[in-house]
Amino acid sequence: MSPPWSVCRLETHSDGRGRLVAVEAGEPHLPFEIRRVYYIYGVPAGQVRGLHAHRKLQQLMVAVSGGLDVILDDGRRRRRIRLDDPTTALLVPPMTWREMRDFAPGTVCLVLASAPYDESDYIRTYESFRAEAAVLATGAVS
Ligand code: TYD
Repeated sequence: MSPPWSVCRLETHSDGRGRLVAVEAGEPHLPFEIRRVYYIYGVPAGQVRGLHAHRKLQQLMVAVSGGLDVILDDGRRRRRIRLDDPTTALLVPPMTWREMRDFAPGTVCLVLASAPYDESDYIRTYESFRAEAAVLATGAVS
C-alpha cells in the first residue's frame, strides 16, 4: 500500500524575468481550501521542529528556499523526504507524525494549511500518536 503522504511537482512559469509558481486550491496536489499560511525560517543548524501530529489538519509544505528533511510516520511506516526545491510540494495528511530536521542555512519552508491554528488538534507525543493511530486502524478494519 502506498503511503498516505505524497510529493508532487508544481508548475513553474519561467521567462527572462525569473520564475513563478502558483498554488491554487482545487488542484490535485492541494485537496483542501487554504485557511492558514505560515512559514518557518531562521532555523539554527541542528535544530529540530515539528515532533507532533495533527488529528484533522492537512498541510502542503514547500521549501521555497534552502532545504530540510521531513520525516513522516503514519504509525506503520516511516520515510525521510528531502525538500530542497521550490517546485516540489509535500502533502501531509492528518494523523501523520512529522519531524523536520537538517535545515540548510537560509531555509524558508512555506506551509499551507486546511484550518486555523488549533492547539486541540495537536498530538504532542509519539506514544500518544501511536496509540491514537492504532485505535483508528482497528476501527477501519472492523
Ligand atoms: P510549533 O508548533 O512549535 O512549530 P513547529 O511545529 O515548526 O515546531 O509553533 C511555534 C509557535 O508558533 C508556538 O508558540 C505556536 C505558534 N504558532 C502559531 O501561533 N500559529 C501557527 O499557525 C503555528 C503553526 C504556530
